[in-house]
Amino acid sequence: MRMRPKKNRAKRMERVSSLFALRNADGYVDIAATFGAERCISLEIGCGKGAFINELSAREPHMCFIAAELVPDVLMMAMEKTFEAQSPNLRFLHCNAESIDSIIPPASVKTLYLNFSDPWPKKRNAKRRLTAPAFLERYKKILAPGGKIVFKTDNKGLFDYSLETFTQCGYAVTDVCFDLHGDPVLSKENIETEYEKNFSAKGFLINRLVAVLLSE
Ligand SMILES: C[S@@+](CC[C@H](N)C(=O)[O-])C[C@H]1O[C@@H](n2cnc3c(N)ncnc32)[C@H](O)[C@@H]1O
Repeated sequence: MRMRPKKNRAKRMERVSSLFALRNADGYVDIAATFGAERCISLEIGCGKGAFINELSAREPHMCFIAAELVPDVLMMAMEKTFEAQSPNLRFLHCNAESIDSIIPPASVKTLYLNFSDPWPKKRNAKRRLTAPAFLERYKKILAPGGKIVFKTDNKGLFDYSLETFTQCGYAVTDVCFDLHGDPVLSKENIETEYEKNFSAKGFLINRLVAVLLSE
């Protein structure tokens, strides 16, 4: 996500800095210290401006959520939403998904959300896709037994690629939908992301799948 550098970034970041997830000396998120209890979390990688994860954490107050994002200014905007809402169950990480398995404790994630991940359409960049095999292997380490990944994208090329990589990497792919907004059941509970609003308004169909981690 490209954007102009934000004015007053340091001040704005300082205001919301209490919303970063707390880390242990070994670099892993300390779930108990962050949320006041040791339990499974849900995670979004590439949360952007945070519309999705802020709404989901409000709808599911009994669950704990972590949102990870690479770009600081975008992350800051997501954190500001949480700060205004005073949500106790959503905290943030500024990180690259490449190191997610050395930050999120093993077997701690019940549901991982990947929403409108960058498609990286050129073949030579395929390894950067957040559903490339190397990423799917990293996610296996952090998913709890029976944990799942929920993936949405408007990009049919990325979706078809991901259907293959999830299967190749030993996930059970279920609930495949090529028109999320046209599905009467799924669309009812769907929470739109910023990109989703934008692309569906332009007439793009939204694809969605669930990939369940199979026990080895
Ligand atoms: C296309 S945007 C989608 C944003 C949001 N999920 C939405 O649907 O509106 C992709 C987001 O993923 C973030 N991102 C891309 N690669 C990442 C990585 N390796 N680690 C963490 N975040 C990443 C980008 O900075 C950007 O905010």
